Amino acid sequence: MINRTIEVGTGVHVKVPATTANLGPGFDTLGLALAYYDELDVTVREEPGVHVDVHGVGEGQVPTDERNLVVRAIKHAFDAYGIEMPGLDIVARNHIPHGRGMGSSGAAIVAGIMAAKGLLEGNVEMDAQAVLTLATQMEGHPDNVAPAIFGGLTIAWVTPEGPRSKKLIVHRGVSPVVFVPEHTMSTALARSLQPESVPHEDAIFNVSRSALLVAALIQSPELLLEATEDKLHQSYRASAMPETDQLIRALRDAGYAAVVSGAGPSILLLCDEPQQRLEATALVEREALTPWQSLMLAVDFKGATVVPHPVGVLA
Ligand code: HSE
Repeated sequence: MINRTIEVGTGVHVKVPATTANLGPGFDTLGLALAYYDELDVTVREEPGVHVDVHGVGEGQVPTDERNLVVRAIKHAFDAYGIEMPGLDIVARNHIPHGRGMGSSGAAIVAGIMAAKGLLEGNVEMDAQAVLTLATQMEGHPDNVAPAIFGGLTIAWVTPEGPRSKKLIVHRGVSPVVFVPEHTMSTALARSLQPESVPHEDAIFNVSRSALLVAALIQSPELLLEATEDKLHQSYRASAMPETDQLIRALRDAGYAAVVSGAGPSILLLCDEPQQRLEATALVEREALTPWQSLMLAVDFKGATVVPHPVGVLA
């Protein structure tokens, strides 16, 4: 481990978008970045160790020591380059809800790795592919971290050499809405409900729909309802999130392209006209048994950013 001195007071500001993964048929593959952000300020300090302040989502709940996910991600990146992590003051300003299927863990991981990239600027060359590799090592699958890093719509896949991703620009007629309940869902639990193998015809069904979904999102939004059909994951997980399942059925019966957002329990709606967002929100308000928040969000086209703090400004 190299003990490289990064000047005390060196600091970076990081901004990372929320993401929604799967998009129906594209399990562990497709993801979309949403204009809803977590922000992070990280500053090198004299003393070793970390001091973490969390504001907003997770305040008073997430660990503020070395177990903190952002801290673990910063350390993971420093370790990967064999450089000792310096003492750090960290301020997190979180908006992305936790445990709802909006990529909060992926955002925390990407935020930490981007902060390390900014702090190591001039010492190591960490390109976007390296950020994707490090983030996927921590997250386990690339479909949230890819859009968090690159923005837009991403197709992610895994090769023997590591994860890869292709960014596409979403058609401007596509308007996402995320319906967010008060209850949470564990991704590990959701994944445990899926079978080891699926019928061949279900696999073919999803191959056709996910290919179609890419065309619908970049070129032909009028195909979104058919293109968001899925047989690989949502039905297996439905028993763990019955209200999500019931609302998705009601929305799809009414003609809206509704799917589980990531591992749930939030619902992603991909509208091909902005007006649909209000009509669908009214439907959810009528049908829901518990309170659901409606977030009408733009697609984020930029992905995660890191900029140095202006000289002399500490977090
Ligand atoms: N593809 C992942 C899943 C996204 O559905 O399990 C959530 O992390």
